[in-house]
Amino acid sequence: MSAKLILGTEIREQILEEITKEVAEIKAKHGKVPGLVTILVGESPASISYVTLKIQTAHRVGFHEVQDNQPPDIAEAALLALIDKYNKDESINGILVQLPLPKHIDEKKVLNAIDPDKDVDGFHPVNVGRLMIGGNEVKFAPCTPAGIQEMIVRAGVETSGAEVVVVGRSNIVGKPIAVMMVQKGRGANSTVTVVHTRTKDIAAHCRRADILIVAAGVPGLVKPEYIKPGACVIDVGVNRVGEKISEKTGKKIAILRGDVDFDAAKEIAGYITPVPGGVGPMTITMLMKNTLMSLKYSLGIA
Ligand code: GUN
Repeated sequence: MSAKLILGTEIREQILEEITKEVAEIKAKHGKVPGLVTILVGESPASISYVTLKIQTAHRVGFHEVQDNQPPDIAEAALLALIDKYNKDESINGILVQLPLPKHIDEKKVLNAIDPDKDVDGFHPVNVGRLMIGGNEVKFAPCTPAGIQEMIVRAGVETSGAEVVVVGRSNIVGKPIAVMMVQKGRGANSTVTVVHTRTKDIAAHCRRADILIVAAGVPGLVKPEYIKPGACVIDVGVNRVGEKISEKTGKKIAILRGDVDFDAAKEIAGYITPVPGGVGPMTITMLMKNTLMSLKYSLGIA
């Protein structure tokens, strides 16, 4: 059997089109567009490329976008003051502080300073709590788990009553996606198991999964014998395993590999996400969705 591919690159285009249309409608009716600020501290090439893509995407869907770049030696107090300024700015609905931050800045303090109602990353403890309660309490689900759930729904995979196994227990993927899949509602109502480095028999748990979500950060961890025939396999891993020269640009680019042994797994799974082109493109897409939702909450139309 050859699995059906779930392509984040395609789903991204559908969702961005939906957002663009809704932004235009809200602008016509209410005279407002969603505003997103990205705050980048320092000059890490990876962070610059992520932030640039976020800003370009925001621009594409018709948002008011602000890219606020700060020097690597900015004082923590100055960064907190900047966040306070954007918390009070009515043209801004979403504040994103690109991580990681330099060592002299307390990341937790910075993330906690963002107004929870503008926390489009969904990292603030208030939003983590809202996610745990579920239902109408949820304002901003974290972007990667939200993207995973959206991919599963749009692929037409049944989640109600499904056995979901999550590999990995990080705060940004493993724990939130487990909470989201167990809630009542669309794309959820699943029976969820979370496995991690201390789990006795990871393979045995994985083999029970109708939906296997892998966010371990270990290239090729999931072997074909971990997969139940016909299962939906979502690979969140983006591991740099080497470099190559791009045929398109002639420049050096990273060779990326997922946490799943893709070539073998696709012969057993019913659905599978590739790396790259699977979960990756969904994270920025859901950031746009959260920023749109933030404006809608503030207008009382969500
Ligand atoms: N750095 C890498 N991924 C992310 C993300 O999703 N949000 C933020 N704020 N920083 C990141």
